Amino acid sequence: MTALLPASSVAADLDWWRHAVVYQIYPRSFADSNGDGVGDINGIRSRIGYLAGLGIDAIWINPWYPSPMKDAGYDVSDYRAIEPVFGTMADAEALIAEAHAAGIRVILDIVPNHTSDQHRWFIDALAAGPGSPERDRFIFRDGRGPGGDLPPNDWRSEFGGPAWTRVTEADGRPGQWYLRLFAPEQPDVNWNHPDIHDEFTQTLRFWFDRGVDGFRIDVAHGLVKDGELSDIDGLPFPLPDGTPEGVDHPHWDQPGVHDIFRTWRAVADSYDGPRVFCGEIWVGRDHRLTAYLRPDELHTAFNFNFLMAPWLAGPLRATITSTLAAHAAVGAPATWVLGNHDVCRPVSRYARPQEQVKPGFPSLQGYLALPADLEVGRRRARAAALLSLALPGGAYVFEGEELGLPEVEDIPLAARQDPTVAGTNGENIGRDGCRVPVPWTTGGSSFGFGPDGGDAPWLPQPAEWGASSVEAEQGDPSSSLELYRTALAVRAANPALGDGELTWVEAGPTALAFTREPGFGCWVNLGAEPLPLPAGATVLVSSEPLVDGALPADTAAWLQLA
Ligand code: GLC
Repeated sequence: MTALLPASSVAADLDWWRHAVVYQIYPRSFADSNGDGVGDINGIRSRIGYLAGLGIDAIWINPWYPSPMKDAGYDVSDYRAIEPVFGTMADAEALIAEAHAAGIRVILDIVPNHTSDQHRWFIDALAAGPGSPERDRFIFRDGRGPGGDLPPNDWRSEFGGPAWTRVTEADGRPGQWYLRLFAPEQPDVNWNHPDIHDEFTQTLRFWFDRGVDGFRIDVAHGLVKDGELSDIDGLPFPLPDGTPEGVDHPHWDQPGVHDIFRTWRAVADSYDGPRVFCGEIWVGRDHRLTAYLRPDELHTAFNFNFLMAPWLAGPLRATITSTLAAHAAVGAPATWVLGNHDVCRPVSRYARPQEQVKPGFPSLQGYLALPADLEVGRRRARAAALLSLALPGGAYVFEGEELGLPEVEDIPLAARQDPTVAGTNGENIGRDGCRVPVPWTTGGSSFGFGPDGGDAPWLPQPAEWGASSVEAEQGDPSSSLELYRTALAVRAANPALGDGELTWVEAGPTALAFTREPGFGCWVNLGAEPLPLPAGATVLVSSEPLVDGALPADTAAWLQLA
């Protein structure tokens, strides 16, 4: 083992997570060192210099554990080992050490809601039969109706269809059903079982012992199910504003989930140097989100309400204000998120007419019918980057966001791999469009994602991908990459940025403007007319050139105030 303790370069700042900029690495799509068409750990290692130069504080790596890859690694068959396609445990330990030496913290992804159907426990559960202790680690039930032919309740899979799969018992007959809120190969585990608690506590320790700085928690709001497994019966989720406390959805955001995270927090706190959690928590109402961020629970959570807000001043300001108030009430820092591996990339989202965007999960599917102007999308995504990096708290950057990559919308259905496609018989084209391998060079068989002449990338890259590559953008002051580098450098050096507070300034109905102490201002023009800047301000960075000293449409600027 090479990385028992964090290197001194990352050990000093106990509050790092309150203001960190975390770069999300989707390992399949980041860098392929061995030319098999799939990104890997040694690919990440080869890009640590790039990450350090970008100026991020931490990386979050999507699941790298052994997996049959029915949901791109979110179907884990062993939580304490490395998937061979991604490398070895030695590679992982070397990556942790090298990242730390470069001043970058490492956050892993833990998947506690479900295992793979190839996890030893599920294989044992199938073999052991109804009523066995092995089945009790999962959620097996008899079906309803004659012959038990109907699923045990009306729950639906996130990937389409019923949330239950029927097994064939040892006698060859159709038997019990198991719950799987995602793909059939992702059986939900039973968090009432002590083995499940032990397994995940040991997993946390295993990786903390290897120097890992934290975990992103997959589907953190889903672990506990209502004891009766009662029907949803049309109850919407997220529950609307005004829903009385005590009314809960039967499988999302059940109150019992908080006890699990209190236990996990105690494990994290038993280590030196804060080891931190970020929850993937889709619950809508702010106070239900920040309930997970009470001082003895998780440190942070993704701010999906911000991600879901359209590029319109009113909704953005409203969500920023309510986010900050709810987080302040529990003493937790907010996070600002524009994209990830599950949602349509911001360039392509903001390319659509924002008044027409329907609220809801921001997958590509929701935008397909709306016309796209990618140049407008790019301008807005650049402005949104400056906005999100200026707000109080931490921020997330999904790989390729710094390059201004758009969603790849025209991947042929047959090449798409997201289980959503199969789950909906192709009606929903899923999330592959934001997962297309990153372009590093202007040319080469995979634009530098893998060695030239290696296997084709696991998802096809568009012909024009090279124009958005790191090689094409670096050194070009008008590029998205250089905007991010400049902004991250200014942010790191400016005491007003990161954790703290903001004060709104009234700048008109289509603008967002706020100040932060000492002496910092962020002005964003979401309207069509030029927006004047405050007198005496010096521009630190702007997302587009100013015109006659004013901010043009869809532009943001950071200001040193007089
Ligand atoms: C989370 C992940 C997503 C995955 C799902 C099931 O939402 O971000 O990619 O498909 O959980 O694990």
